[in-house]
Amino acid sequence: MNKKTVKDINLKGKKVLVRCDFNVPMDENQNITDNTRIIAALPTIQYLLDNDCKLILCSHLGRPKGEFKPEFSLKPVAKELSRLLGKEVIMAEDVVGKDAKAKAETLEPRQILLLENVRFHKEETDNDLTFAKELASLAEIYVNDAFGAAHRAHSSTAGVAEFLPAVSGFLIEKELKFLGNAITNPERPFVAILGGAKVSDKIGVIDSLLEKVDTLIIGGGMAYTFFKAQGYEVGNSICELDKLDLAKNLMKKAEEKGVKLLLPIDTKIGKEFKPDTESKTVAYTEIPAGWEGFDIGEKTIKMFSEEIKKAKTVVWNGPLGLFEFDQFAIGTNSIAKVLAEIDATTIIGGGDSAAAVKKAGLEDKMTHISTGGGASLEFLEGKKLPGIECLMDA
Ligand code: 3PG
Repeated sequence: MNKKTVKDINLKGKKVLVRCDFNVPMDENQNITDNTRIIAALPTIQYLLDNDCKLILCSHLGRPKGEFKPEFSLKPVAKELSRLLGKEVIMAEDVVGKDAKAKAETLEPRQILLLENVRFHKEETDNDLTFAKELASLAEIYVNDAFGAAHRAHSSTAGVAEFLPAVSGFLIEKELKFLGNAITNPERPFVAILGGAKVSDKIGVIDSLLEKVDTLIIGGGMAYTFFKAQGYEVGNSICELDKLDLAKNLMKKAEEKGVKLLLPIDTKIGKEFKPDTESKTVAYTEIPAGWEGFDIGEKTIKMFSEEIKKAKTVVWNGPLGLFEFDQFAIGTNSIAKVLAEIDATTIIGGGDSAAAVKKAGLEDKMTHISTGGGASLEFLEGKKLPGIECLMDA
């Protein structure tokens, strides 16, 4: 990484504003259902505590659209963080208001203050610099460790860096190391697996990975657009009719680049979008009218698995089927198991693919599971991430 980290700056005893991505899933009673992102922030927090810093943490949670809404409060995060650290986390009632300012002012070394959800201010997502300056005025140094939000140019992820010395935390450093190495210097064969519902969400990443991989495996909902582009009927399967030419062009590009492009050869289809719907497996060329494709079939699982077993580097983004319904999770789970067993660097993009790997209980078997969904995708696309660009060069 060509950016400064917390190790490249003297922060001993300083007041440090740390942007984390504490955007964690919660149930309807505001119980945190997955604390991975909070755990991922601990190494940086611990390092700053060990350096006698006064910590001011901030984050967004969900999309409250610039208004205070109690269900988007970060209070449950303060509680969970305090439990994980075995230490009090002081909660501010606001972001840059009276309470936050007073609490930030009187903070002692090794104390932690968590500000309220930065998205309670509309200025945050506008990357308003007056708001960024107010945030910055709370501290002496800015540390960005919110990899999951690094693709957002917001006040707390980018704007604030105009007013304070800005460095990255260990999570951003780690994410860039794994994702960066995979795309710039992969041990070959390099296989990318892309799933998810829509081709339109993945155009950039397919295009960019076709320049780098040896094999590109495509599954999930977007495969049906590729079937349709080849002239086959897809029944009620998800299909982007305005992206057929694009799918054809991507297939052509793969051929020109000498990239092996693997699409499913069979598919598990269902009658209706519900967990216990009637289902069967058919060849990809024979999807009947009235049926909808929800998973890859057994033959495809075998074909994909054989290819993945030859790989030395695998990057996976997007589930291969409707993994939320057990009967259509077989493809995604089977591929996750293969990844867990092979002797290769295995990188899982965040979001749904990370959730699928966790649901299968295989997270410890992967080299790296990214904490960023959109951010890891944009990084793999080769885009510059504003939350990283704004940091001081090393
Ligand atoms: C995420 O969950 O991907 C990040 O926290 C970013 O959230 P956002 O898509 O609401 O900006």
